Amino acid sequence: MADKANKGLADVVAASTALSDIDGRNGRLFYRGYDIHDLAGRTTMEEIAHLLQRGALPNRDQLAAYQADLVSGRELGPLVETNITEIALSHGPMEALRTFVSLASANDPDKSDNSAEANLRKAARLTAQQAILVARYHAARTGTDIPAPDPGQGIAANFLLQVTGRRPDPRAAEILDTCLVLHADHTMNASTFAARVCAATLSDMHSAVVAALGTLKGPLHGGANEQVMRTLESLDKDGVARAVREKLAAGEKIMGFGHRVYKTEDPRATHLRKMSRELAESSGNDIYYRMSQEMEEVVLAEKNLYPNVDFYAATVYHYLGIPTDLFTPVFSISRMAGWTAHVIEQHADNRLIRPDSEYIGAKDQRWVAIDER
Ligand code: ACO
Repeated sequence: MADKANKGLADVVAASTALSDIDGRNGRLFYRGYDIHDLAGRTTMEEIAHLLQRGALPNRDQLAAYQADLVSGRELGPLVETNITEIALSHGPMEALRTFVSLASANDPDKSDNSAEANLRKAARLTAQQAILVARYHAARTGTDIPAPDPGQGIAANFLLQVTGRRPDPRAAEILDTCLVLHADHTMNASTFAARVCAATLSDMHSAVVAALGTLKGPLHGGANEQVMRTLESLDKDGVARAVREKLAAGEKIMGFGHRVYKTEDPRATHLRKMSRELAESSGNDIYYRMSQEMEEVVLAEKNLYPNVDFYAATVYHYLGIPTDLFTPVFSISRMAGWTAHVIEQHADNRLIRPDSEYIGAKDQRWVAIDER
């Protein structure tokens, strides 16, 4: 029988990486050796994307050069432009994004080039395009015009500008930027693993990202942040503890809790909880924050499970005015930095990823002709 301990490849080391590292017992996360607690609130999404894709935190000149690459890489191409409305009106957000990235690849001059230089260029373009694709998706489905990006602002502020149609409060943009920093990479999570499996066949970066987007969509992975908000919206504010206990007693999973690797608090949740609280207080309506706190207390007491990155991200995005079904797409804006960096790393030292399986089906079957079955 399959070893229960290793089911779902738990504790199996599937790749070597210099990109991120988790100390699950002590609740610590590092990007290229930098503690996430030192990066959160002090660095921008652009700096972290540079760190992951190009190997080091940028100095001012390097950051300016990277930002110029992002600006020149925003073009989505005619296939996306022609089909965006039809796709937006017929697809959910993550399905549409998967399709847009695939269509956008046709416009990428380095599409089929897996060289290190081409991969760096594609990583910047994919990073530049993802926030725009999410905002354009939302505008297309609502039939609204999208403001032009502000050249003086980064990915987070421009995303808020384009998705809400209003120039964001600087602190709101800073908070979203910190969220993007916190979500950028996370070792061998399911979507990154999917990207690496695809890249290891020597397929191209866009194909790997499409695999990752399809994987991030699921509620056991990136899709959990949307489900957290749906749960909060479905609960009676005065009956949170009882409802959560009932769900647990019925064997239901509470979205936004538990983690394969962390055995204590997810360090990203520490920052997200603080930002959720800050936004709740400044919004003048902290009900979802207070309900989240109550959920956290009950799940910890009943199951000894801690909130993961998705739990407080949900209320942060809610208070920032982001539509609930765009929460997982926001995750993808950030994780694009990590996925593309992992493809670069995989192609730089490749071997096909092809694990084994344990056969548990019938044996020694005797074939009989179709008319005799
Ligand atoms: N609520 C209630 N019980 C839970 C939860 C939860 N959120 N998470 C785990 N458990 C319980 C399981 O029911 C199981 O109990 P059992 O041994 O009595 O059957 C035990 O804890 C182990 O759970 P597994 O699902 O086997 O743990 P695994 O490591 O495979 O899964 C996962 C980790 C998928 C994150 C899980 O905790 C979960 O489903 N959480 C909810 C979904 C979620 O928030 N996903 C986002 C994760 S972070 C990210 O991907 C960005």
